[in-house]
Amino acid sequence: MGWGSEGYRRGMRALFANRTVARRLAQHGARLAERFVAGRDRTAALLVVQRLNRLGIAATLDHLGESVRSLDEATACREEYMRLLEGVRLQRADSTVSVKPTQMGLALDAEACCRNVRLIAERARKAGTSVCLDMEDARYTDATLELVRRLRAEGYANVTTVLQAYLRRSEADAARLLEEGVPLRLVKGAYQEKKEIAFPNSGDVLHQLNKLIRLHLDAGAFVAIGSHDERVLRAVRSHAQQAGIDKSRFEFQMLYGLRMEEQAKLAAQGYRVRCYVPYGQDWYPYFTRRLAEKPANLWLVLRNLFR
Ligand code: FDA
Repeated sequence: MGWGSEGYRRGMRALFANRTVARRLAQHGARLAERFVAGRDRTAALLVVQRLNRLGIAATLDHLGESVRSLDEATACREEYMRLLEGVRLQRADSTVSVKPTQMGLALDAEACCRNVRLIAERARKAGTSVCLDMEDARYTDATLELVRRLRAEGYANVTTVLQAYLRRSEADAARLLEEGVPLRLVKGAYQEKKEIAFPNSGDVLHQLNKLIRLHLDAGAFVAIGSHDERVLRAVRSHAQQAGIDKSRFEFQMLYGLRMEEQAKLAAQGYRVRCYVPYGQDWYPYFTRRLAEKPANLWLVLRNLFR
């Protein structure tokens, strides 16, 4: 099992799914999670956004949580987003919000989920900003795309979403969404999927991500690139330069706590940069996905632990 390999990811995911490990991490991990999580509440998160904005970095705020167990829980999460957007409006923050559809009840009741996201989109519109529906595991791809199409058809042009390059279907989805004018964030993909539906090889994922980015750039569509991978960032910059594509036509998005210096550097060079800022109490699934992604992330956290 090589460092950074799919084997590492699988091993880490199995480890974090273990009940004893989960219990221990939940007890002691909150401090460690601070590396990737902006704070326990929206006040702390909005302060982080203010700091980022001063550096010329935009933000997208994510209230942590996914797969709610009841519609009441989904309503409570929706209300948190409503208050958050009020904060964005009052602070005149340069920030969108990112929402997990299962946090809004997608796995329980698609209609209720749609109502929740619609209310958030309405509030976001008042705050002059947009809502990106994060893409979760492949059970929800169709339902998420349907949700985006439905709300956009109702006039909520501020609802956008994400495509994951590891899914074999994404090339076809990207072509359709491009035609429909849906602005996208393109990422590699963070969930464990079967090889029948997702490329198991990281080289293939990288290839597909670059291909999807190119498709959007060459078509003149705005695209957000959610990646820390230097190979991706370099390919975008050099393609844009060669093809005379203006820096305003794409955006680099990175996660809070990762490559922060690079984010500031790119912003200072005139690139659009948006930092994904998660906050809240429900940090466990988000945090362990980050640790499973890369040995370097695990190392960062362990170093903090023993400092
Ligand atoms: P990856 O982790 O594959 O690393 C590849 C290489 O990049 C490394 O070998 C190294 O060279 C370089 N690198 C990476 N991190 C570095 C660091 N910290 N410092 C220096 N070099 C580094 N997923 C999903 O399924 N649904 C979603 O909605 C989203 N949303 C999302 C938003 C944003 C803003 C981001 C950045 C990511 C997501 N993701 C996501 C997660 C995404 O799918 C993916 O799992 C992670 O971004 C990890 O892949 P990377 O391309 O960043 O590099």
